[in-house]
Amino acid sequence: MRRPLVIGNWKMKLGLAQSLNLARDLKRRVASLHSETELMVCPSTPFLLPVMEALQGSPIGVGAQDLVSQEPGAFTGGVSAEQLREVGVSCCIIGHSERRQFFGDTDEVVAAKLRAALRVDLLPVVCFGESEETRLQGKTETFIAGQIHAALDGLDPVQVKRLVLAYEPIWAIGTGKSAMPDDAEAVHGLMRSILQESFSTETAASVRILYGGSVTPANIASYMEREDIDGALVGGASLEAESFLQIVQFR
Ligand code: 13P
Repeated sequence: MRRPLVIGNWKMKLGLAQSLNLARDLKRRVASLHSETELMVCPSTPFLLPVMEALQGSPIGVGAQDLVSQEPGAFTGGVSAEQLREVGVSCCIIGHSERRQFFGDTDEVVAAKLRAALRVDLLPVVCFGESEETRLQGKTETFIAGQIHAALDGLDPVQVKRLVLAYEPIWAIGTGKSAMPDDAEAVHGLMRSILQESFSTETAASVRILYGGSVTPANIASYMEREDIDGALVGGASLEAESFLQIVQFR
């Protein structure tokens, strides 16, 4: 009942020509793909429109990597949820650990950004994940629960149903050290039980929870066979059409 979803996060790694080449390559190859999986890519903000244009007529959605929580106004450098909505993006990544680490996105900022996306009906992909230190201290569950409550408390079940959540352990991002599927499933199960306790059983059953962190064509199936893992948020392996589409065809 939860449609699998795979999102490519291109981060700040590609220029315009590279982004367009990748988009065109994806469009060409995806035409012969028979997959029930929903697909999205998140290019850098200046390339959203050209990439959307390049992907026109393909089933691949385009999302942003970040937004600011403010409504349109005097906020130099900001890109609002309204502006993203206007150009027609499908989703927005919110609370990625790189935003939290390098740009000071606190739990409060993440909560505000999430509400901004909901304000304009933009699909928020909200990220959570613990550091290696937190995991080694055995505090992963408490930490993730804290992050989720900070982001979601105060929303109603109808709003929560409009979210996608992602579990991205920081130590697994870009390291090749992907989480053991059992460990990932344990956190996904915890996330779903929080949704159930805080909102409703129906909400918990409908929200998609993606895993991210060194996902590759070789390990995707081991995640997707788990009950509470509904897809992947892919960094490095999304930068080439071949590996990204192999991930999409995980079966
Ligand atoms: P990698 O797939 O490169 O580990 O990146 C994961 C990620 O941060 C996706 O948002």
